[in-house]
This record gives sequence, structure tokens and C-alpha cells, in this order.
Amino acid sequence: MESRLIAATLLLCCFGYACAGNMPDYIKICHRNDPELSKCVKQSVHNLRPYLGKGIKEINVPALEPLYIGDLNILEGGSSGITVKAKKLNIFGASNFEITKMRASTQNRRFDFELLLPLLQGDGQYDINGNILALPIKGNGPFVGNFTNFVAYVRITYDVRNVNDIDYFEVKEFALKIRTGKGRLRLENLFNGDKVLGDVINQTINENFELFTNEVIAPIARALEVKFLAIATKILENFTYNELFPV
Ligand SMILES: *[C@@H]1O[C@H](CO)[C@@H](O)[C@H](O)[C@H]1NC(C)=O
Ligand SMILES: *[C@@H]1O[C@H](CO)[C@@H](O)[C@H](O)[C@H]1NC(C)=O
Ligand SMILES: *[C@@H]1O[C@H](CO)[C@@H](O)[C@H](O)[C@H]1NC(C)=O
Repeated sequence: MESRLIAATLLLCCFGYACAGNMPDYIKICHRNDPELSKCVKQSVHNLRPYLGKGIKEINVPALEPLYIGDLNILEGGSSGITVKAKKLNIFGASNFEITKMRASTQNRRFDFELLLPLLQGDGQYDINGNILALPIKGNGPFVGNFTNFVAYVRITYDVRNVNDIDYFEVKEFALKIRTGKGRLRLENLFNGDKVLGDVINQTINENFELFTNEVIAPIARALEVKFLAIATKILENFTYNELFPV
């Protein structure tokens, strides 16, 4: 009798717990029919930022600070006649975004975000080889860079997938475009330290920064898509559709 009562109490408690949707601090739920859904999703994503920075251990979300991109082929020979590789690229500041525009549509199962990245800092190793204006250019070494006011456009489309009678969000598409802002790079040890030539190249890069980064940014955007999709998937697979997005 007593054990039954305990069992019943436990059951009730568990049920109550689930119903109350006792969610962790990093999740701020939004109601599906919220007339200001976009505003809610925006706040919810803003709330998530510090957790993304440090990572969320309990659901295996890796820290976004720093964001390790690894090796990238930035320019590959071809018409420009110059090959540029970045190695061990790390980016700092990706979790310090500000959502400047947000549109959530449950009808189209689609979220569009415009994010401002006020300051990104990068470091790594570069490897440059080729010719610029018949001038042979060769060098490798560390580089650092500051990038200000980059803008990211993110489009997420999703489906609701039923697994064993429970609905889950399933990300169908995560597309990212980046509009470059201002920036400054410093390549150390160009021409094995030849100061005059090094400064000429440094200056050329920095004067043409926007041109340069627009070529460079596509592979970085692809790498970021992969990272962010992995993060979104980790979060979404650990909560049900009704937990995250109750009626
Ligand atoms: C990047 O910004 C930091 C802090 O403002 C500064 O100390 C550093 O020299 C800058 N780096 C470059 C390559 O401009
Ligand atoms: C250019 O590169 C050299 C190293 O080759 C570095 O010492 C110098 O500070 C850089 N100049 C600029 C303007 O970034
Ligand atoms: C998160 O979801 C994955 C995949 O379904 C699962 O393996 C893992 O145990 C879940 N983690 C938690 C803490 O629920």
C-alpha cells in the first residue's frame, strides 16, 4: 500500500516535471503561437550566446570560443597566380553576435537571421606562394587579424520528424552568407623577414582588404556552416519539439 503510494507520487512528480518543462537555463522556450514569435526566438538565441561560448557539456556542444577552423585553401593558383593557405586558423568572438533582424515563420518552417559580428579576431599560420605582378611571392609564418562589423545572414529550414511517437525538430538546411566589413591582417615573416617586401605585401593586403576578404570568406562561411549545423543539431536532438516549441 505504502509502496504504491510512493510509486504514484513519484509518477505524479515525474509527470509534473515533464509538463512544467523544467528546461535548463540555456533554453528559453518560445510558444509556437506567440504573436511575437520572432522577438521571442531572438531573445532565446541571445540568451544562448554565453553558453555557446563556453560549450554545453551535458549535451556535447563544443565551445565556440575559440572557433577552430583548421586548414583552409584560400586561393588556389589559377588566374590570380597565387596560392594562399591558412593553417590552424582560430577565430575568437563568434559568440559575440547581435541579431539585428529576425524573421520566424512556422508556416514555412523557416527562420532567417541577420547577425552583426562587431569584432572577430583570428590567428594561425599562413603559407603564400606565387606571383603578384610578376613579383615572386613566397613565405610562411604566423598571422593575426582583426575583422570588424562582419554581417552574417543565416537561413534555417526545418521539418518536424516523428520518432517513436515523439516529435523532434530536424534541421533541413542551414545556409550562411557573410558580408565582410573592415579588417586588418598582419602576416609575420613574409619573404623570410625581408622588411621592405613584407611591408609592401602587408600594405597591399590591407589596402585591398575588402576585395581580399570577399574571396577568402566563402570557404570560411562553409566551415562555419558545418560547425553551426552540428551545434544546432546537438541542441535540437536532445529536446522534443513540444518542449522547445510548446503550443
Ligand atoms: C587587433 O586589435 C587589437 C586590440 O584592439 C590590437 O592590439 C592589435 O594590434 C590588432 N591587430 C592588428 C593586426 O591590427
Ligand atoms: C608586415 O610584415 C612584417 C613582417 O614581415 C611585420 O613586421 C610588419 O609589422 C607588417 N606590417 C604591417 C603594416 O602590418
Ligand atoms: C542527446 O541526444 C543524443 C542523440 O539522441 C543522445 O545520444 C544523448 O544521450 C542525449 N543526451 C542527453 C543528455 O539527453
